[in-house]
Amino acid sequence: MEVIIVETPLDGAKEAFDIFARVKRLGGKVFGLATGSTPIELYQLLTESDLDFSDCVSVNLDEYVGLSPNDEHSYRYFMNEQLFTAKPFKESFVPNGLAPEDIEIARYEQVLADNPIDLQLLGLGSNAHIGFNEPGTGFQERTHKVHLTESTINANKRFFENEEDVPRYAYSMGPASIMDAKEIVLMAFGEAKAQAVKDMIEGEVTPAVPASILQNHEQVTIIIDQAAAKLLADIE
Ligand code: GLP
Repeated sequence: MEVIIVETPLDGAKEAFDIFARVKRLGGKVFGLATGSTPIELYQLLTESDLDFSDCVSVNLDEYVGLSPNDEHSYRYFMNEQLFTAKPFKESFVPNGLAPEDIEIARYEQVLADNPIDLQLLGLGSNAHIGFNEPGTGFQERTHKVHLTESTINANKRFFENEEDVPRYAYSMGPASIMDAKEIVLMAFGEAKAQAVKDMIEGEVTPAVPASILQNHEQVTIIIDQAAAKLLADIE
C-alpha cells in the first residue's frame, strides 16, 4: 500500500486525478467509480479536464435496492449529476436498484467479466466498509445484495428528508470483485474516518474490517488528509 497524506481534500482529489490521468494515458479503458461525498472534488477535476473518456467504460460499485435510476437519491442519479452528463463515457454501468436480485447479480457479474477494471476508485465508510460491503462480509463475496448496517443508514440519512426513507438494502460489488481491479485508489478525509483508516492500514486483515483486504492487493494508493491519518502509528 502506498499512503499519501495531503493537506486538504482538494489536494487529495488532485492526487487521485493524477492517477486517473496516468492510467488513462497508459491505455486504461475501464474505470470503477464510487459515490459518497469524498469523490465529488475529483469528479469536478475530471469534468473540468480535457481527459476524454468517450472510448472508456465506467462501472460503479453499488446502488440502493428499490430506487429508480431517476430517483434523486439513487447512485445512478448522483453519477449523472456529478460526472456522466458533463464527462460522458462510452458506457456507464451502475447496478439497477429496481431489478430482481438474482437477475441483477448475474447481469452485474457479467458486466464485470466483460469489463475488467483497470482502476477502481473507493471511498471508505466510517466502519471501514468499501462499496457497501459491511463488516463481516466474506472476502470471497462477489456482487451481492447487502443489508445495510445502522451506522451506514445513519451516515447516509443526511442525503434524505427522513431516516425512514433511507433504503435498507443495496446491491454492491463484493470484496472479491473489487480485488480483481488492476489498480485501486482509496480516498478518505476527516476525523470520522481516522479509526477506519488505522484499522485498514495497520490492523489485521479480517472481514470485520472490510477495507483491510486492500493490504493484500499489489497496487493500492491510499489518499488521506491529516485528520484521517491522525491515529496512524507513524504520524506525529
Ligand atoms: C457510502 C458508499 C461508499 C462510500 C461511503 C462513504 O456508503 N456506498 O461507497 O465510500 O458512503 O461516503 P462519504 O464519502 O460520503 O464519506
